[in-house]
Amino acid sequence: MTWDEAFANHYEAWSAHMTADIPFYVNLARTAKGPLVELAIGNGRVAIPVAKATGRRVIGIDSSPAMLAQARARAAAAGVALDLREGDMRDLALDEPAALIYCPARALLHLPTWADRRRTFERVAASLRPEGRFAWNAFAFDHGIAARLDGEHQTGPVPHTVRYSVGDNRTDIVQDDGATSSLWWATKNEWLGLLDVAGLDLEVLNGGFGGEPFTDDSREYVFVARSRPLSDVP
Ligand SMILES: C[S@@+](CC[C@H](N)C(=O)[O-])C[C@H]1O[C@@H](n2cnc3c(N)ncnc32)[C@H](O)[C@@H]1O
Repeated sequence: MTWDEAFANHYEAWSAHMTADIPFYVNLARTAKGPLVELAIGNGRVAIPVAKATGRRVIGIDSSPAMLAQARARAAAAGVALDLREGDMRDLALDEPAALIYCPARALLHLPTWADRRRTFERVAASLRPEGRFAWNAFAFDHGIAARLDGEHQTGPVPHTVRYSVGDNRTDIVQDDGATSSLWWATKNEWLGLLDVAGLDLEVLNGGFGGEPFTDDSREYVFVARSRPLSDVP
């Protein structure tokens, strides 16, 4: 398990500033004709607006009982239905192929190894309808930011220290209470390699949620990939 349950206690505060991604994922969901699935749904921060905007039930997979409990309570308060399933995204299996699978908030970075991600991408490819979409975002590792922040104590939004293990391409966000969130960063070519081995095609890589082109200065990968049309499947 790579998610520290104690981190769930302050997730609301951690994620309060994250709003730019919501319209992006909502718009993808609006155009999807078929089941909608969020990997690592967390507290439902994105899935609830998606369910509201589309009037459809979103299937949410997450390995954390604490985060799923928050999602359940928030969905009830918002008056929307989520189909919450406790499970590991590496073992994704659906009864019906999805039109859209998405993974916001850099959550794929909680998977420690390339093999974990390959398994996840292969499960996604197997779980999508022909021409279904897979969308996710992740940060592009910035050595300048890492050098500045490594070991520095920060007070907001929750008191914490960020530590970088360059050898393990890992960032640890360590709260003062000891709860830790670890993220294993990946390069653009690692993401493209994952699409390649899973047999998914890149539709677009943007540098932000507003459709900004991806450039050398981009610090966020915003990926949309597609599964192949039925005619292309051997
Ligand atoms: C940063 S939160 C993201 C929550 C939500 N998607 C959002 O946008 O706010 C990361 C979530 O990933 C979940 N998670 C971590 N590893 C997982 C795995 N292997 N399978 C399923 N969920 C996982 C954690 O339980 C946590 O809820």
